[in-house]
Amino acid sequence: MMLKRTHTCGSLRLEDVGKKVTLAGWVYWYRNHGNLIFIDVRDRKGLTQLVFNYETQPQAHKVAGTLRCEWVIAAVGRVQPRSEGMANPKLPTGQIEVAVEQLEILNPSRTPPFEIEDGDKILEEHRLRHRYLDLRRPRMQHILQTRHRVTKVVRDYFDSLGFWEIETPMLAKSTPEGARDYLVPSRLHENCFYALPQSPQLFKQILMVSGVDKYFQIVRCCRDEDPRADRQVEFTQIDVEMSFVDVDDVIGVNENLVAKVWSEILGVEVVTPMARMSYKQAVTDYGTDRPDLRFGMKLKDISGIAKNCGFRVFTSTIEKGGVVRGLCAPTVDADGRPDVLTRNYIEKDLTELVGEYGAKGLVWMKVAGDNGKLACKSGIAKHFAPEQIGRIINIFDAKENDVLLFVADTEKNANKALAPLRCRIGRRLKLYEPNSFEFVWVVDFPLLEWNEAESRFDSLHHPFTAPVEEDIDKLDSDPANICSQAYDIVVNGSEIGGGSIRIHKPELQRKVFDLLKISPEQAQARFGFFLRALEYGAPPHGGIAFGLDRLIMLLVDTDNIRDVIAFPKTLRGQCLLTDAPSEVDPKQLDELNLRTQKHSHAPEQQTQ
Ligand code: AMO
Repeated sequence: MMLKRTHTCGSLRLEDVGKKVTLAGWVYWYRNHGNLIFIDVRDRKGLTQLVFNYETQPQAHKVAGTLRCEWVIAAVGRVQPRSEGMANPKLPTGQIEVAVEQLEILNPSRTPPFEIEDGDKILEEHRLRHRYLDLRRPRMQHILQTRHRVTKVVRDYFDSLGFWEIETPMLAKSTPEGARDYLVPSRLHENCFYALPQSPQLFKQILMVSGVDKYFQIVRCCRDEDPRADRQVEFTQIDVEMSFVDVDDVIGVNENLVAKVWSEILGVEVVTPMARMSYKQAVTDYGTDRPDLRFGMKLKDISGIAKNCGFRVFTSTIEKGGVVRGLCAPTVDADGRPDVLTRNYIEKDLTELVGEYGAKGLVWMKVAGDNGKLACKSGIAKHFAPEQIGRIINIFDAKENDVLLFVADTEKNANKALAPLRCRIGRRLKLYEPNSFEFVWVVDFPLLEWNEAESRFDSLHHPFTAPVEEDIDKLDSDPANICSQAYDIVVNGSEIGGGSIRIHKPELQRKVFDLLKISPEQAQARFGFFLRALEYGAPPHGGIAFGLDRLIMLLVDTDNIRDVIAFPKTLRGQCLLTDAPSEVDPKQLDELNLRTQKHSHAPEQQTQ
């Protein structure tokens, strides 16, 4: 019979000396000193040193000599203090060891392709291919545990406020969140497809029509878009919806949730109510609706000055309706290291960065002292009159040795490049404490955004977002300037959640579809069920969804979303562990009445 463990590998202390114990776990490390063999055995709770003595237990010593890393063992022995000078103060179990009397090999292991220890040395591809080994690493176990603890805090919090967790279908009709759907063919309904949910948006709204009042769900969402460092094709939301509420109610309940999570998981007290910032201010000052407020370095517009300078790139951009915007960065970092922003760094690294975001160039000048006055000497300064330079220095409140960096483009494009530039420089200059958190609700979003390519409006959030009441009459006269009742919660430049008060009147919902150029027929085909539900007494309601993966990323301090998901997909949407997606048996395709190109061409290829 298998030996049953009495303790975990992280639990034994000096008080346990003399006890007979059984431990089970994986061989982490072994040292063979002839008569004495030392084995560190590991489980998710920690490590314990086992010692095998040839003199006293020759049989166990003999078996111990065959052990290799990652073999699974069980050992019975007596706890003893480590000998003089051998204690390891870094390890909670470092004062003791277990003198083994009986050893059982529960399972040998092939030699692992990498060591089960922390550090970023292991290629991610190996980690993902052998995820079972990767997840054995203490760092990954910590992340799995943190994720579990967060979902428990979330469930307890919502339960205490009377929310019900209700599951919504995975095989659903497509609901638009702006990404491509994952489609699932139906066997019973030829030529018909389910869509995996991009979010439970319409179902949670229908639950409000159903009188559920307060709903939440920890739910998987699937969006067929290119994965990124903070984006997965399959991710998890904490999805929330409430009836008879306004913006302040939803924000209040949900910022208290965030504060609770931060307090329980990190012991960090988050100040509530959290700051709020209008969309317009966020874009003006930070170039993005996801501002990182841990540091200043706000963007400024110098178009008024640049339109009269001698630099053709600036003047022609402004003539075409564009802007010149930029930021002012110190060159000394927070540790006092000078010249962190060298000419080479600006003209190579930073210029490449803005290029990746579509900017055609990055223009700069450095502030110098000139007879007690500040002036700009380098870069494009020669194209400006001294008086213009003076005004630019004033706009940025620039100091000697600061660098001014500019992008000239349409306002939207300039912001798109300057926002990541600001973050890159902020990080390089260490302008913030890495472990600090700055929360902000971004509010007052426009309801609609003009889509030049398709000459129609797009929703900035989704088509079910309500406009503020004062702006409802602008739906006909001035749709571009309607303010919505949407809100996003942003932490350190990461959007961890977003939601809105919803449209609950069918006429208004139809009108918004109309502006989005969704015809009544299309609306009926795609959302008929939902419009019908709105007609049966839908209460005013609103909600939010948090990206659980992004929350965990912040809590465990990683930039890589794959670290916080047990079995993630790569940037190419693959699961390296299972090799999904993969080809399927032609029989399965036949049952679904589907042909892949390869499948339907196969007979031709054979005849060649
Ligand atoms: P939204 O699309 O903004 O809103 O999603 C809510 C939050 O989910 C996270 N998120 C993602 N995380 C990882 N990978 C992705 N591909 C991904 N996409 C989104 C973000 C985001 O803030 N139904 C609405 C919510 C509502 O209105 O209630 C929705 O899904 O953190």
